[in-house]
Amino acid sequence: MRIVLVGPPGAGKGTQAAFLAKNLSIPHISTGDLFRANISQGTELGLRAKAFMDAGDLVPDEITIGMAKDRMEQPDAAGGFLLDGFPRNVSQAEALDVMLEESGMKLDAVLDLEVEEDEVVKRIAGRRVCRNESAHVFHVVYAAPKTEGVCDQCGGELYQRGDDSEATVRNRLEVYHTQTEPIIDYYKAQGLLVTIPALGEVADVTKRAMDALQK
Ligand code: AP5
Repeated sequence: MRIVLVGPPGAGKGTQAAFLAKNLSIPHISTGDLFRANISQGTELGLRAKAFMDAGDLVPDEITIGMAKDRMEQPDAAGGFLLDGFPRNVSQAEALDVMLEESGMKLDAVLDLEVEEDEVVKRIAGRRVCRNESAHVFHVVYAAPKTEGVCDQCGGELYQRGDDSEATVRNRLEVYHTQTEPIIDYYKAQGLLVTIPALGEVADVTKRAMDALQK
């Protein structure tokens, strides 16, 4: 399956993607995680992306589209993938259509995680992420680690993302409304959009998404 996950910052895309990708045996491709890995490795791409991410702005398409394409062309993605955070504007969605068409492929579904704004603000404020490459995600209240500040899965250090500050989150939400939301209509017009209410327990949201995909 080839699936796109859409939703505002903090909606739970990364959390759901981990479960859905496992259930469907496809790789989880997160452009946010790819940028953060490049930043921590000090690559040129990471250096170019960092200022945009710190401000909560989109990284320019000429950097993002090439990076996403390279990842989708890796052998593990030949049989399908779950995209998290890409595409994020209409020009990225059009570029993805071209990439898929050139390879004789198409998307199966676009899952839109629907959550109210005050809930995403709470989710982001309490989010803690593992510094190791796996980037496991926790929440100080909703998904607390057994030992404060330590990743349950690999023992790595948990940290608060720099772009999770209040001022940056405000801009990320604004960017979501102005630049990303238009892709919802784009995919609705293609008959691919499935809206998933994303409030409630993580496992319940996963079940709603799996049920929708099976239909
Ligand atoms: P990215 O990393 O993609 O950030 P985002 O889209 O803002 O999404 P988040 O990672 O903030 O949230 P999420 O929806 O994954 O939620 P999570 O599962 O962590 O992008 C970061 C930046 O990179 C962008 O701002 C941009 O600069 C750049 N970028 C990335 N892609 C780009 C692109 N295509 N083009 C240009 N620039 C790009 O959950 C959040 C919290 O909630 C966690 O603590 C979790 O434990 C908790 N939680 C999850 N589900 C539930 C639940 N059901 N109930 C209670 N708590 C829950």
